[in-house]
Amino acid sequence: MANQLKWEGQQLATWYFTVAVVLFGAQLLMGLIAATQFLYPSFLFEIFDFSVARMVHINALVVWMVYAMVGAAYWLLPEETGIEVVGIKLAKLGFIVLTAAVTVVVLVYILVQIGPADETTIWFINEGREYIEAPRWADIGIAVVLVGFLGHVFATAIKGKRTGIVTVLMADMIALVGLYLCGMGFTDSISMDQFWWWWVIHLWVEATWEVLVGVFAAFGLIRIIGANRDIVEMWLWIEVAMLFGSGILGMGHHYFWIGTPEYWWEIGALFSALEPLPLVAMFIHVTYDWGKEQGIAKAEGRGSAIANTPALAWFFTNAFGNFLGAGIWGFFHTLPQVNIYTHGTQFTSAHGHLAFFGAYATILIGIFYIAVQGTNGIKTLKMTTDGKWAISLINIGVFGMTVALTVSGYGQVLVERAMMGATWEAFFVSQDALWFVQGLGWRLVMGVVTLAGFVFLVKDLLSTGKNTMHVK
Ligand code: HEM
Ligand code: HEM
Ligand SMILES: [Fe+2]
Repeated sequence: MANQLKWEGQQLATWYFTVAVVLFGAQLLMGLIAATQFLYPSFLFEIFDFSVARMVHINALVVWMVYAMVGAAYWLLPEETGIEVVGIKLAKLGFIVLTAAVTVVVLVYILVQIGPADETTIWFINEGREYIEAPRWADIGIAVVLVGFLGHVFATAIKGKRTGIVTVLMADMIALVGLYLCGMGFTDSISMDQFWWWWVIHLWVEATWEVLVGVFAAFGLIRIIGANRDIVEMWLWIEVAMLFGSGILGMGHHYFWIGTPEYWWEIGALFSALEPLPLVAMFIHVTYDWGKEQGIAKAEGRGSAIANTPALAWFFTNAFGNFLGAGIWGFFHTLPQVNIYTHGTQFTSAHGHLAFFGAYATILIGIFYIAVQGTNGIKTLKMTTDGKWAISLINIGVFGMTVALTVSGYGQVLVERAMMGATWEAFFVSQDALWFVQGLGWRLVMGVVTLAGFVFLVKDLLSTGKNTMHVK
């Protein structure tokens, strides 16, 4: 692939993106293994157990997204500030150290899998905190590299031009990296452990990561449709205020049943119910800017000027997906009166899938397209047939999985919770209920559809430089 990049920071970004895509693929394969085990529990029994497949599935998810986000930050920094990433050599070393650590962690997950019930397992195999299970040695290494990354962002932003986009990125990165540290402590109380663990999980996905989506959307819309910077940055500040305003105390929706004081019921109910609002704002932001630029282009007699059609398509998917997955599917179960029935059922999993996909996977894929465009020096990147297959199959697959899991979750809520009163026996009866099992069957089918879409996506990203449809 002919490399047309002017900045070393952007080259480093492409390294991060490459690892991200590989881990995305690994995530999907692990998901398929886990989904098969739901239906055929003896599949790979004692060779590769469900607990391990599930753990690798969701840790790969978080790690590929963090990689893609760090990559996106390195991609936009030189363009926004007008200068090379400060300390780029060290930043590249950071990438190598991080990737070596991630590789060792994944190999240990897959080959060693489990250890004795003592501190050595926490230090060398996994920490047992869902989504961020890296063993302690790697945890410390990750924190060091992330703090280093923060240093590069700040040094570059202070030395170069500091746009609104860069300022928000700086503030958000402090919060994002700082929160990771909250998941590293250790207490003997499971309630306290969960209390702090949510600071990472919830405050990442419902505050700091969402702000990053705002940053990427702002940056991307300027590049893709030539959106007006003042308008885009105005939206960004509004979104930041709304996201933090509702997201921080919205964390109460995870404090309903873990042993925290009862006032969290009211706080969690109120603030988390407000959380869909910024997502509506983000949706309006993208469609408004798009409509406005279309209007200007028409008035000036030029055709619609989309510099990167696949990226724009994925940005739209993000606007819809974020609103549906986080806003609607999140709102469904956010009030304690509802959550008491739905807590920890497949309903939660339905929301988890559509939210992570809709809010994050989509926009990051959009950024991948911006990166292949830049790397190949393409002026106008059009949608290819492979690109259409990719976006269609992935969307049908993930939305299909979500609907299937929602049906399973509904069956579970009805039988296990409402009818049988959440007893141990109720759990097993509902696991055998027809709707539950059929939903899981469809989840597996839709998972295969998602994987097929992913194959098209990789093919499309890799062949962008060779496709003659694009204007160089
Ligand atoms: C992009 C943003 C979001 C992502 C990625 C996300 C993802 C998730 C995931 C993965 C879980 C399951 C956690 C676990 O393993 O226990 C979860 C739980 C939950 N989410 Fe979200 N979420 C997002 C936004 C929202 C929003 C905006 C709301 C409410 C309006 C919401 C409400 C909830 C609730 C109430 C739970 C707890 C479910 C239970 O009790 O089992 N989420 N979320
Ligand atoms: C090939 C497609 C996929 C399959 C077959 C699959 C399957 C699974 C399975 C079986 C679980 C364990 C659920 C449980 O313990 O009840 C799971 C969990 C999870 N998956 Fe996937 N998955 C796929 C793709 C994805 C994608 C694309 C995302 C997000 C971008 C994702 C995010 C998650 C999350 C957040 C959880 C934890 C949910 C929770 O605890 O509530 N998965 N997945
Ligand atoms: Fe939350």
